[in-house]
Amino acid sequence: MSTKLIKNGTIVTASDTYTADLLIKNGMIAQIGKEIEAEVDEIIDASGKFVFPGGVDPHTHLEMPFGGTVTADDFATGTTAAAFGGTTTIVDFCLTTKGKPLSDSIAAWHKKADGKAVIDYGFHLMIGEINDEVLAELPSIVKEEGITSLKVFMAYKNVFQADDGTLFRTMLAAKELGAMVMVHAENGDVIDFLIQKALEEGHTDPIYHALTRPSVLEGEATGRAAKLAALAGARLYVVHVTCAEAVQQIAEARLQGVDVWGETCPQYLVLDQSCLEKPDFEGAKYVWSPPLRESFHQEVLWNALKSGQLQTLGSDHCSFNFDGQKDLGLGDFSKIPNGGPIIEDRFSLLYSEGVIKGRITLNQFVDIAATRSAKLFGLFPQKGTIAIGSDADIVIFDPLAQRVLSAASHHMNVDYNPFEGLTVTGLPESVLSRGEFVVRERQFVGALGAGRYLKRAPYTSLNSAGPAEIADPLEKVKQ
Ligand code: URP
Ligand code: ZN
Ligand code: ZN
Repeated sequence: MSTKLIKNGTIVTASDTYTADLLIKNGMIAQIGKEIEAEVDEIIDASGKFVFPGGVDPHTHLEMPFGGTVTADDFATGTTAAAFGGTTTIVDFCLTTKGKPLSDSIAAWHKKADGKAVIDYGFHLMIGEINDEVLAELPSIVKEEGITSLKVFMAYKNVFQADDGTLFRTMLAAKELGAMVMVHAENGDVIDFLIQKALEEGHTDPIYHALTRPSVLEGEATGRAAKLAALAGARLYVVHVTCAEAVQQIAEARLQGVDVWGETCPQYLVLDQSCLEKPDFEGAKYVWSPPLRESFHQEVLWNALKSGQLQTLGSDHCSFNFDGQKDLGLGDFSKIPNGGPIIEDRFSLLYSEGVIKGRITLNQFVDIAATRSAKLFGLFPQKGTIAIGSDADIVIFDPLAQRVLSAASHHMNVDYNPFEGLTVTGLPESVLSRGEFVVRERQFVGALGAGRYLKRAPYTSLNSAGPAEIADPLEKVKQ
């Protein structure tokens, strides 16, 4: 492992902004200070650049079977694209199958990632049923496997959807184990009825995907999940929040002391429902669940990030090619695979649309893109910050560089970019994972398989507890 000194950069964390040098040893941050003098293998000049902690993307779907096909990005292409975009940690969703041991699904997910990931990764685990076998497996999954977040789908009827009893029992089990429950919050039963009705009436175009999933059904499910979490005394994280109704439910629950957290995604901050009306079936490129909303919701989401009612930004990266995958839904919007390619552009979109446009501060940017997810998902302070003893996951960021987002230049393994033609200001120039360059001056220099699996810590009443082995960070740096 080489030693490195990053000099003269503007270091930005969730709380501070200052100019300093940063010494990297053993893959970790060993020293931060003014004019550090040290014998190192390499000195990197970061004058005029921001030095951010690597982004933590709490929501990805790599090589995931869904909608009769498999997502286009695997752990090699997906994590490479993530690194280009300034993300150095992802937490991917491990799907499970009813009636099969959870450990089989986890083993399958390890197989997808082993030898492929170029950055570090952890897993969330889907819970589709609760029975004696599941309850018997959960303690070792949380405590030994380090999977400390359990995901329940309240929608996707007859596919992933679980009932309220399953959700509530998952919450009770999670609370016992210090795990967090994550929900996809939409009322799947009512949506299923609306979809069948629309199809019977001959409505088959992509826009009907949005029209059959109204925001009130997201608000209703979010409120229901929050109330169940309050009753169970569990910690709840609502993924991909899209609308005012859901934000309101989260804000009200938080005011009542419920331990509930909310994530939104770049697509909901920047795009709106009108994209689904694009001609020649192009609207299919914009099919997410929950769907893109009318544009007034965007301001609500930005304000919720700014005020702290929503705390994180996930990419919900779930990429399908337009040709050969999205077109499975030609003539029936309900068969369009749900999801889109975002993993690469999450970080720069938040900076460009958020910081440059004055919607959030620079420190809030770091908190939303990295720190808060690391804290919530049991990775802090190993990940998500720049501090002595933390992993040297670093983004050297050029605040003036621009890029036109485009499928022609992105690194995601997919034939379109939902933000095609949008110029972002501010780009990751170089990205380091545990002290080694993965991207250097916009060129990939990483290695397949260099990414490590992250066992994550259960939460405690202190909320931000990190893995026990870095409780004394100075010890490891001194070695
Ligand atoms: O449309 C989406 N969001 N696809 C990914 C699966 C999910 O619901 O998160
Ligand atoms: Zn979802
Ligand atoms: Zn998702």
